[in-house]
Amino acid sequence: MTPLLEVRDLDFAYGDVQVLRGVSLSVNAGEIVTLVGSNGAGKSTTLRNISRLLRPRAGTMVFDGHDLTRLAPHQVVALGVVHVPEARRVFPEMTVLENLRMGSYIASARAERAKNIERGLMLFPRLKERIGQLAGTLSGGEQQMLAIARGLMARPRLLLLDEPSLGLSPLLVRTIFDTIAQINAQGTSVLLVEQNVYQSLRIAARGYVLETGRIALSGTGESLLANSEVKAAFLGA
Ligand SMILES: Nc1ncnc2c1ncn2[C@@H]1O[C@H](COP(=O)(O)OP(=O)(O)O)[C@@H](O)[C@H]1O
Ligand SMILES: [Mg+2]
Repeated sequence: MTPLLEVRDLDFAYGDVQVLRGVSLSVNAGEIVTLVGSNGAGKSTTLRNISRLLRPRAGTMVFDGHDLTRLAPHQVVALGVVHVPEARRVFPEMTVLENLRMGSYIASARAERAKNIERGLMLFPRLKERIGQLAGTLSGGEQQMLAIARGLMARPRLLLLDEPSLGLSPLLVRTIFDTIAQINAQGTSVLLVEQNVYQSLRIAARGYVLETGRIALSGTGESLLANSEVKAAFLGA
């Protein structure tokens, strides 16, 4: 089976500082795959290369037969690869509803806007209660929900999620991970970047551990959870 996304031997540098070294990973259709690692390992940089916000120095990235290295960010979105970046950038002066509408700017998504808004509000009932509220007045967790719901407005085939659980209360962390599993069950493949190693390996089919720009380990979520190096480094064992 050809993976939906295949990244091979990705090298990236910020100026002279090399941050990614030969990163290879894949996401099969229907999977949640997680990329875990400590702060500064290069997780966000990897996602920014895939969504073409950054230009790799070397390597290949193929999504559903399309060479991503030849495309501009908006063309990557049009293929169905949607990046929900770190630090939830919602439009603070717009309402929840207006933010959601902003997510369906590509033509193919506009036709199904009402249906997609409804789907997002089903996944995040809290947003429904706050539909007319300015996004800047939402709690951190609600802003994260809005950022994900807005990403879903473009009908992604592959959702790139950067640290969706960052800074959330334990209860909300559970909600977010449950919702990611639900989004996946509805047919969206997910590449999930996280420092919450335990929760993300629990919901992922497969995972990769990134250590200072290199893939140090990979395997099924289950096998990585049981791995002694993973336990020692991330699970406080
Ligand atoms: N815009 C930038 N310019 C220079 N270095 C950067 C920039 N963004 C990130 N870095 C560096 O690249 C490395 C990887 O960062 P990042 O991908 O954000 O890691 P992670 O998401 O795993 O925490 C870090 O050493 C970070 O300091
Ligand atoms: Mg990051």
